[in-house]
Amino acid sequence: MEEVRIALRNVGEIDPISVEEFRAHDGFEGLKRALSMDPKAVVDEVIASKIRGRGGAGFPVGLKWNMVRDMEADQKYIVCNADEGEPATNKDRILMSGDPLSLMESMAIAGYAVGATKGLIYLRAEYPYLFPVLREAVKVATENGFLGNNILDSGFDFSITLVSGGGAYVCGEETALIESIEGKRGESRFKPPYPGCVGLYGCPTVINNVETLMNIPVILTKGAEWFRSVGTEDSAGTKIFTLCGNLNRRGIFEFPMGVSLRDLIFDVGEGVCGGELLAVQLGGGSGPILNADQIDVGLEIDHLGPNGIALGAGGVMVINDSHDILDIVENTMEFFADESCGKCTPCREGTIQLLRLLRKIKNGRGHLSDLENLEELAEVMTMTSLCGLGQSSPIPLISALKNFNDEFVSILEGRCDLW
Ligand SMILES: Cc1cc2nc3c(=O)[nH]c(=O)nc-3n(C[C@H](O)[C@H](O)[C@H](O)COP(=O)(O)O)c2cc1C
Ligand code: SF4
Repeated sequence: MEEVRIALRNVGEIDPISVEEFRAHDGFEGLKRALSMDPKAVVDEVIASKIRGRGGAGFPVGLKWNMVRDMEADQKYIVCNADEGEPATNKDRILMSGDPLSLMESMAIAGYAVGATKGLIYLRAEYPYLFPVLREAVKVATENGFLGNNILDSGFDFSITLVSGGGAYVCGEETALIESIEGKRGESRFKPPYPGCVGLYGCPTVINNVETLMNIPVILTKGAEWFRSVGTEDSAGTKIFTLCGNLNRRGIFEFPMGVSLRDLIFDVGEGVCGGELLAVQLGGGSGPILNADQIDVGLEIDHLGPNGIALGAGGVMVINDSHDILDIVENTMEFFADESCGKCTPCREGTIQLLRLLRKIKNGRGHLSDLENLEELAEVMTMTSLCGLGQSSPIPLISALKNFNDEFVSILEGRCDLW
């Protein structure tokens, strides 16, 4: 299957920090076009493209930019979310190492569109080797007049600073990320207010994922209509998928939204290795766990079908039948119990209780009533947790309960009453 590379267009094609090679591949053309337009027209072009965020939540990018643009403020910020903590994804790392100048270009376009003069890249703490690459890219972009003061004689100033992540999964959540940049403990804030109104240091702030931003220069050069012609009605453009787990071919691959999950596994991934297909976890650690009969589905940002499939950050973790599905779920739930920041009770206590109930069932000590308790607890967590971590952490467990019900029930039917 042929890839359609928009975000990955330059990766592997150019020397990542050569301005000459970058320009030979249309580098900075999107910024030049943006600077020739009224800032409001740039926002309108992004709105018209219908691009939605690639960091997980899928919020329309143009609407976010418009909100920040409309705010009256002396200072506004563009923050690139490069925290990439989602298990089973590593696309942003590849984008930043292979094409850092596109990221600089995108952030400058965003700054011009919304009236921000400062940008920050919040880089995952576990990617320290990317600091020199990004630092060099900022340097060469500035030396060549694409960052800094009076960019390309337009009168527009924009600078980029690098910030190291806090080393916790929750720091990728946009408000925890802001707290972390401000030097505080990485804990999510109450929303509203949203960062677009009250963000970094209290100023209106655009926060976008790396992959989201990498699409922006192409939208400016090829136009919103072209971009909308790729993908589906609700999810325009392409998505980068991280294929991992028990596949013959693993890696990151970019396809139009709507691509079939079966094709990703059996064509792009060249099929399952080490056994037959047991399950697929889609989106990342907080994504649903599907069984082998559920892979005939087109992948969009939010495919609200009967299985509640959502694309998340694009992870496709394939699991063969040498694994026990309860082990897989336990591993995932351990992750969330460890990573809960502890600020709100439903998530702090709920993630631990979910894990305890699961282990009780797994160890043959469960009762059928535990399944109801799990579902009730999951519902409370989804409705009352402060941020997406607590709200979505029950998804792997609840989806596995539904999609692998026989496995759970057979353990429960052989339960030990002595517990
Ligand atoms: C627990 C948690 C972790 C997150 N981690 C990331 C992350 O590593 N990278 C990212 O871009 N978005 C992450 N997000 C989503 C961000 O809060 C935010 O929606 C995103 O950065 C917005 O960018 P986008 O609109 O371009 O997707 C996370 C959300 C939650 C709840
Ligand atoms: S939901 Fe979890 S991670 Fe988010 S604020 Fe509450 S305790 Fe912290």
